[in-house]
Amino acid sequence: MVRKITVIGGGYVGEHVAQGLMLQELAQEVVLIDVVEDMPQGKGLDQRQSAPVWGKDTKVTGTNDWADTKGSDIVIHTAGRPRKPGMSRDDLLEANVAIVRPCMEQVKTLSPDATVIMVANPLDAMTYVAKQTLGFPKNRIFGMAGILDTARFRAFIAMETGVSVRDIQAMVLGGHGDTMVPLPRFTTIAGLPLEHWVSKDKIDAMVERAAKGGGEIVKLLKFGSAYYAPSAGAVEMAEAIVKNSHRVLPCCAFLEGEYKHEGIYMGVPVILGENGIDKIIEYPFNDTEQAMFDKSVEATKGLLEDVKKFL
Ligand code: LAC
Repeated sequence: MVRKITVIGGGYVGEHVAQGLMLQELAQEVVLIDVVEDMPQGKGLDQRQSAPVWGKDTKVTGTNDWADTKGSDIVIHTAGRPRKPGMSRDDLLEANVAIVRPCMEQVKTLSPDATVIMVANPLDAMTYVAKQTLGFPKNRIFGMAGILDTARFRAFIAMETGVSVRDIQAMVLGGHGDTMVPLPRFTTIAGLPLEHWVSKDKIDAMVERAAKGGGEIVKLLKFGSAYYAPSAGAVEMAEAIVKNSHRVLPCCAFLEGEYKHEGIYMGVPVILGENGIDKIIEYPFNDTEQAMFDKSVEATKGLLEDVKKFL
């Protein structure tokens, strides 16, 4: 258990992250901060009142005051505009740069030793903006998306095969957008490659559905984007850090030559522990996989050019 985890943004993702952290008792204190007056205080108090029922000692509080976040060990940034039906994650760029930058300036001043997990979209660009603003070393600033994209793929595989999700190991890498890179070749059930279990056509259909999984939820919800699976992903990363468990998880990490790219955030498998990212693991891509990854890098680079207009 760490002393304090701050969750920035009291929307659907933020509140579920706070609750997940409390249910797993990952911190003594969870601070939920939002600009909307009274709302985070209300959600914090409600969660505080759920703690006796759950039997958890983590104290969730809500606030509008950055001073309450001072000295956080981990900061999870969820604040940002969500997608509406018909929007791509990239359409959120300008609005969310304007939210992420001032928040990260507060984090830099008040929690200079924190490890920061970004969740706001477009994820790879927002993580880059956060790193530029914070100036933290790359091991302490990264993003959550690969766990979400992978979880979608795993859920579809479980639906198709009837096998427990716990026995399904998958990898979805690249950017968190239309060019993400699901890797059926590195996806196994109890150690057996996926193609042993499911036909090629079915695999292709699941790959396609996983890559468009966020949009599918946006279309169904109509008021915003997914929050159960995204918040679960952020909590899993926090758990790996707090417990120093050295999980191998797909995360949005800063590349410096890995996978043939540098100076950019991309979804790649990393080893995650108390120092944040210990190491990026390089999978032996074939030419097709590398080409898909390169395309994803190009898409994110295009976004970063746009980001410069808003800085
Ligand atoms: C999704 C959004 C949150 O993939 O990026 O659901």
